Amino acid sequence: MAEHTLQDKVAVVAGGAKNLGGLISTTFAESGAKVVVHHHSSGDAAEQTVKEIEDAGGQAVAVQGDLTRVADVRRLFDTAVDTFGGVDVAVNTTGMVLRKPILETSEEEYDRMFGVNAKAAYFFLQEAGRRINDHGRIISLGTSLLAAFTDGYSTYAGGKAPLEHFTRAAAKEFADRHISVNLVAPGPMDTPFFYPQETPERVEFHKSQALGNQLTQIEDIVPVVRFLATEGWWFTGQTLFPNGGYTTR
Ligand SMILES: NC(=O)c1ccc[n+]([C@@H]2O[C@H](COP(=O)([O-])OP(=O)(O)OC[C@H]3O[C@@H](n4cnc5c(N)ncnc54)[C@H](OP(=O)(O)O)[C@@H]3O)[C@@H](O)[C@H]2O)c1
Repeated sequence: MAEHTLQDKVAVVAGGAKNLGGLISTTFAESGAKVVVHHHSSGDAAEQTVKEIEDAGGQAVAVQGDLTRVADVRRLFDTAVDTFGGVDVAVNTTGMVLRKPILETSEEEYDRMFGVNAKAAYFFLQEAGRRINDHGRIISLGTSLLAAFTDGYSTYAGGKAPLEHFTRAAAKEFADRHISVNLVAPGPMDTPFFYPQETPERVEFHKSQALGNQLTQIEDIVPVVRFLATEGWWFTGQTLFPNGGYTTR
């Protein structure tokens, strides 16, 4: 990947079927990458994303998996290697959000939140580190709540918080193979992931905190991910906080 382009590279996009991950999949394909479009429950969206890429002349394959299971993480990378011969870029957009007071949070909710947000991210990094080619790029998705002092998001922000340390450790441990590892932590983003946890008043508050009085758009974040995968090859071990809010769809 020394030439810093996505042309003919292989990209694994976990959660790559829809919303932010879907736009990363199609944008990478437009730049010439072969894309492994992972999904958990969004099978129809994954097929649609693969079709969109193929209709535009690109190559893609859909892979289902529950990435809280290490065996499924390994199968995802196996499929990438078996289908396209290797992996150059690995992006993990998986996440699960819950806004709930600590006093009301159950053990089951805690385990589910840390399973998707922390455990899946850890073993995705591990398997990416094992399977990715030299000069590869690994990018995880966090949240701007990592830098916030707020209530209600203990298991979401808390579940994503370890990613900063996983990222820094992996950046050091994989550096001798010229593999960069970074974390992109967007502000409140205008997707169906965000709204069920918030009141209309809080949505307006979040808008008021951003440029243009609008939530972060997925179009604000994809260029940052693309930059880290290409021209920004020297960034490693970093958490980036793109908050956007100014893109006109
Ligand atoms: N929207 C926001 O306000 C916001 C703000 C900052 C950061 N983020 C982060 O950005 C990322 C993308 O979010 P989004 O807004 O684009 O929403 P999204 O499409 O709902 O993203 C969540 C992804 O996680 C996947 N997932 C959930 N459980 C899984 C499991 N057990 N195994 C594997 N994959 C699983 C989902 O796959 P399926 O759909 O196939 O089940 C989905 O692709 C997330 O990591 C989120 O935390 C979002």
